[in-house]
Amino acid sequence: MAAADPRLIVPLDLPSVDAARGMVDTLGDAVSFYKVGLELFASDGMTLARALKAEGKQVFLDWKLHDIPTTVQRAASVLADAGCDLLTVHGEPQVMAAAVAGRGTSRLKVLAVTVLTSLSDGDLAEMGYAETARALVERRIHQALAAGCDGVVASPHEAALARTIGGPDFLVVTPGVRPDWAAKNDQARASTPAEALRGGASHIVCGRPITAANDPREAALRIAGEMAGA
Ligand code: C5P
Repeated sequence: MAAADPRLIVPLDLPSVDAARGMVDTLGDAVSFYKVGLELFASDGMTLARALKAEGKQVFLDWKLHDIPTTVQRAASVLADAGCDLLTVHGEPQVMAAAVAGRGTSRLKVLAVTVLTSLSDGDLAEMGYAETARALVERRIHQALAAGCDGVVASPHEAALARTIGGPDFLVVTPGVRPDWAAKNDQARASTPAEALRGGASHIVCGRPITAANDPREAALRIAGEMAGA
């Protein structure tokens, strides 16, 4: 069986820190990178994030920061001090530049969320944007690079665009990934782990195929095996 693949990020979308802790213990050395999102932050997610770092894991803080520059800069600075690895911010130029300033010379890498995938062209028009979602994604990838961001969160269908614009070292972190053998859940246009990597992703975020599996550790190792063959 394959070992943990550092390009596989498992989101701890679980109802409590205790449940997340249990999943991390179940997965053991099969997974080395975890995403901690808003649901856990609303309870005690930063305590968990610090504990994971102390255990040698990589930690993706999916906070999607969006505020005035001073506030974003200070928040990014505090999060950088926690020693975490990835932080998301919304892909507006002021916000991205503030987060990059806040993380300073720390290890924390800043990822831009270009356009939430829940937003359609119609939603953007209603919000006053004159561009399609695809055009706005492209604009914001360029702006993320200009702001000094390390990468973007992109659907598998946008990964190639982000890779082309961002170049070889740009991080392209891709959710919406489903192995052939897993339920699609609410991911309507999913790609397999291998397709996502071949399409330009540097990392994939894959949750329920692992966390809802009868044997999460076996599922994670199976996905790592598919990634190794990509
Ligand atoms: O369980 P699943 O693999 O669908 O989890 C995907 C993770 O990626 C979730 O944490 C979800 O919030 C996140 N995500 C997503 N689609 C996006 C952005 C983030 O599924 N466009």
